[in-house]
Amino acid sequence: MGDSQDVTKGEIGSFFPYPELDPSDVAESKRKSPTWPPRSWSLLNSGRAALQQVLDSHGVGHPQGVLWLPSYYCSEVTRYVQRNTPIRVYPCNPTDQSLPSDIPPDDLLLIVSYFGAEPPAHSLDPSQVVLDTTHDPLAPWIDDYRAGWVIGSLRKTLPLPEGGFAHSSRSTSPSLAEPRPSDESRQVAQQGAVAMITKARWLAGDPSTDKDEWYRELQQHEDAFDRLDPASLLPENEQLLRSLPVKSWRQVRLSNLAFLREHLPPLRWAVQLPATYGLVLVCISQEVADTVRGKLVSQGVYPARLWPQPEGSREPDTDLANRILVIHTDHRYTRTQIAGVVQLLKIV
Ligand SMILES: Cc1ncc(COP(=O)(O)O)c(C=O)c1O
Repeated sequence: MGDSQDVTKGEIGSFFPYPELDPSDVAESKRKSPTWPPRSWSLLNSGRAALQQVLDSHGVGHPQGVLWLPSYYCSEVTRYVQRNTPIRVYPCNPTDQSLPSDIPPDDLLLIVSYFGAEPPAHSLDPSQVVLDTTHDPLAPWIDDYRAGWVIGSLRKTLPLPEGGFAHSSRSTSPSLAEPRPSDESRQVAQQGAVAMITKARWLAGDPSTDKDEWYRELQQHEDAFDRLDPASLLPENEQLLRSLPVKSWRQVRLSNLAFLREHLPPLRWAVQLPATYGLVLVCISQEVADTVRGKLVSQGVYPARLWPQPEGSREPDTDLANRILVIHTDHRYTRTQIAGVVQLLKIV
């Protein structure tokens, strides 16, 4: 198949380059999903800012109430919201997703959709539940899930230099405050866009671009979201978002994933988790995960680390985080590249 060679052309995974849109895809997208994201949603600079906006609108912790977060979660988000809101952590991870059956009336519970899978049902009042759908914001089950608010990052599934969303899905939830523009947020988004454009040029073979440089810039851009207050998405990025063929891209991601699963040999060293975000493998040990990761990276395939657990985390969560490999299957990749990933996974 010559596949592993195709895989090493460019790379699989890692930061999105700035998108080069095909006008016919854009027209098709407008035809298929003229209303996504719906105009009633709040569009912000990041997913963590979206959660903060919900917390501010709800008033949790001011003066009463705490936000319950799952123990296995993106630690950047936990750190960010903890600055303004008291939190409590409940034991929950992708292989043992138990949810509290009761929480005090002033509290809110965040439920995360791990890798796009539908979380288990809960018995709380929906007005106490915030659902994080970052890994598959267009998943069809979301509208029926009992949650007062839905939030997420847009940058994990779409090539945008900033972006998050929040909306209250029930009329009983307080409405969300209007986010405001901020100069600092504008600067971060613009620097991110420049770095994404440089990455796109590098992928296209431009010899004047330096991988170390754009990689460092994209990493700094990623880190900058930690210090930004919630702000509105820039108008140019809303326009970009609305021009992306989000539904067709989701279909490509799912069909690449289906192809990968279908052609994967039985793996003695890992099991798969339910997912629509990409292929999620839980290896039998950290050593195996590290070895497989090393082999994939040497061929230009960069599995995501979702998510490294900070010191002091529960042992089952740290153990799981050390054994998980997430392989992207999104719209950036051709069938040939995905076939190349199959070949690589056969020989590890
Ligand atoms: C599940 C989940 N929710 C929220 C976020 C926060 O998104 P952002 O980085 O846009 O703040 C992330 C980021 O990785 C995430 O993985």
